[in-house]
Amino acid sequence: MTPNSMVLVVEDDLHISELIVFLLQDGGYQTATAGSAAQARHVLESQAVDLVILDWMLPDTPGDQLCHEIKSRREESFLPILMLTARNALADRVAGLDAGADDFLTKPFHSDELMARVRALLRIRRAELARLQVITELRTAYDRLATTQAQLVQASRLASLGELVAGVAHELNNPLGIILGNAELLPTLDHSDDRRAVTQIIEGAQRARRIVQSLISFARQGKIEEDWYKPRDLVERVLDLKRADLQNHGIQVEVSYGLNLPMLWVDGSQIQHVLLNLIQNAEHAVQGRPMPRIALRVFRQDPPVLAPPLLGESLGAWQSDTGSLVMIDVMDTGVGIPSELQVRLFQPFFTTRPVGQGAGLSLAISYGIVSQHGGSLVYSSHPGEGSTFRIALPVVREGIPVPASNDGGASGSVLVMDSEPFVLDFVSRLLARKGWDVAVAQRAGQAFDMLREQPYHAVLCDLKLQDIDEWDFYQQIQQICPKHPPIVVLMTGEIRNDRIDALVQSYDLPVLRKPFTAQELFDCLLIVEPHDQENS
Ligand SMILES: Nc1ncnc2c1ncn2[C@@H]1O[C@H](COP(=O)(O)OP(=O)(O)OP(=O)(O)O)[C@@H](O)[C@H]1O
Ligand SMILES: [Mg+2]
Repeated sequence: MTPNSMVLVVEDDLHISELIVFLLQDGGYQTATAGSAAQARHVLESQAVDLVILDWMLPDTPGDQLCHEIKSRREESFLPILMLTARNALADRVAGLDAGADDFLTKPFHSDELMARVRALLRIRRAELARLQVITELRTAYDRLATTQAQLVQASRLASLGELVAGVAHELNNPLGIILGNAELLPTLDHSDDRRAVTQIIEGAQRARRIVQSLISFARQGKIEEDWYKPRDLVERVLDLKRADLQNHGIQVEVSYGLNLPMLWVDGSQIQHVLLNLIQNAEHAVQGRPMPRIALRVFRQDPPVLAPPLLGESLGAWQSDTGSLVMIDVMDTGVGIPSELQVRLFQPFFTTRPVGQGAGLSLAISYGIVSQHGGSLVYSSHPGEGSTFRIALPVVREGIPVPASNDGGASGSVLVMDSEPFVLDFVSRLLARKGWDVAVAQRAGQAFDMLREQPYHAVLCDLKLQDIDEWDFYQQIQQICPKHPPIVVLMTGEIRNDRIDALVQSYDLPVLRKPFTAQELFDCLLIVEPHDQENS
């Protein structure tokens, strides 16, 4: 600070003022001058000053008053004041020091002494500024620490919430399966009121099933498990979770689906997670806004991709030469995102929500998920008007098989195994109604005996609570029926079981996830090929 420091000389005696200025400039300092308190105030307001040399006898204001004023205005950063008093003015010096002056010099003074005092006071100022800087840095670090701590607490809450949700969802699967399965057996009732009641039970149970599946998707994280999904199903599952809530908060929800939407080869739960994040962000953005509205638009885009004019530049800049895409736009009429914040949107822990409310992770995670799928997550935002986030997912392959329904009536024999008697009951009744020859077993040993006695086309089994695991069960069946082993279909209410997943992958086995609909049950047995049971 030394040579370029700015010194304000407040002195009404022009000769003394000029002398001091000369000495200071000679010492390499910058100077400003004031002949009165009023001028001094003006200089202090209009430019940065590092030291004030203040004559005690000013024409317009007593020295101690001005001294007090300067000190109270500059309480944050230390501004030293060197007062100049007459030789015998002891009372002035005491008043000056009491009013906040840091040092004094009596007139007439020696130039060396003036310069030595100037240097000393500027040294103190430099030390004070360094101290303030450290305090500011400490404060910032403390604030950052407090924010990070709140985010970590939130993240761990989310993790335990995920586990809880997974557990609850799993437990709901069996009772839901029983309701759905039994209800689907009922519509043959004659009375129309009964029929309506049954239809409503089925619809209600199917809705509950979708919600459970959405919760499971939310709770599941980690590796990508791809499968074929209809874009519409992905969106509707998330809306099942959010629609009522949004509408209860007065938020209008609109959804539109374009024509010829191809199926997507994606991890459904992860893409739903992304959609949920975007909808939740839109929800926060429209809160408290007039006419809050969230619109979802799903459409197919064949190359070259040109953004619709409504969506603005940052979407427009995005092009694809890869092939067809499915776009899922989440638009809101919310606050929008200020342009200076837009570059930080996808950074982990970037949030504008109050501490403890937003982790600032959703967009970062969503970006990662969409990129892992070979897609893009882009946005366009107009502060004060709203934002659009777009998920663009590549269409991997056309001509994806649509599962046929088993309307032609099934055939063959099936052995159903489950430790839940209710499940056994409704599954076997559903299959029998479709023409299957059904036998049931509650334990693995019993099933092996039955397979030894008679061949079956298919074995449908849930091995939970059995003393044998799926691998052993599958291998023993191969040994019992070496020539024409039955198709093994695994039923499971578990969200994730690594051993089952590995078995399913190794032998490409069909899996029926509980709760399932009648149609899903029939569809998974479509692969059973009739064979001559006598020869097996
Ligand atoms: N639709 C939107 N409209 C306005 N601002 C948005 C929108 N979506 C995201 N933002 C801004 O981006 C920030 C980061 O979003 P992100 O979803 O990653 O974290 P968050 O919502 O703050 O917290 P959480 O991780 O709990 O979702 C938000 O805090 C918000 O400032
Ligand atoms: Mg968010």
